[in-house]
Amino acid sequence: MKKKVAVIALAMGVLALVGCGSDAGESAAEQAKVLKVGTNATFVPFEFVGEDHQLTGFDVELVEAVAKEMGMQVEAHNIAFDGLIPALGTGQIDLAASGMTITPERADKIDFSSPYYQSGLGVVVPQNSSVQSIDDLRNKKVAVQMGTTGAQKAAEIEGVTLRTFDHNSDALLELTKGGVDAVVSDLPVLQYFMATSANTSMKLIPLTTDKPEYFGFGIKKGNTELKEKVDAALETLKNNGKLDALYQKYFHENAPKMPK
Ligand code: ARG
Repeated sequence: MKKKVAVIALAMGVLALVGCGSDAGESAAEQAKVLKVGTNATFVPFEFVGEDHQLTGFDVELVEAVAKEMGMQVEAHNIAFDGLIPALGTGQIDLAASGMTITPERADKIDFSSPYYQSGLGVVVPQNSSVQSIDDLRNKKVAVQMGTTGAQKAAEIEGVTLRTFDHNSDALLELTKGGVDAVVSDLPVLQYFMATSANTSMKLIPLTTDKPEYFGFGIKKGNTELKEKVDAALETLKNNGKLDALYQKYFHENAPKMPK
């Protein structure tokens, strides 16, 4: 039995992207075809809630394509970014699709799919700010999203006052309200912010001297069966042009070059 459920949005609830039945009597085989995906949908253009109240974005479309390759249906859980790794641990979700950078610290706790996007960090400050580099953020107020690589980077700045937000969009909002001097976050997200929010009053400083970051899907440590399936699906999507089509759709000429 299939139910068409557009969105069931509870505060920290489940967003059913694709109708997926949960009627009594559903066979174990049908239930096994559900891929529980965790995301923090405050990260345009990777994952966000669109005007139609549906989850959308690059990661959302990519994970749907991956699930389709695996013959599965996505059941999306919109949760705090720093809750994703614990949620993988408890089995609340099977996979995290959330612009998550593959880092050695995280790779101790969870497994990652092969990388699907090359990112990096950047800083946004008001246009009239004297800040020209990350070093100029010394003793300044900086907004970041909790548990992110941007938060980690900002925490290294001498004398910095960190304002930590559950949602990336709230960190950016705080900057536009003048509550902080800067935001440190992922460059492609900041580029979108600059392009779409009429931010002629802001300037973006890419941290180009930093090492690039690579996004991967987070998977429960030791679930090699799922990792292998996800990697095979990603490989298929790389080879059949679907991944490229998604890069083009969301990033146009800024489409990232992926490592071979
Ligand atoms: N790439 C950064 C990290 O892994 C930020 C990711 C934030 N993602 C999100 N959906 N809010 O730490």
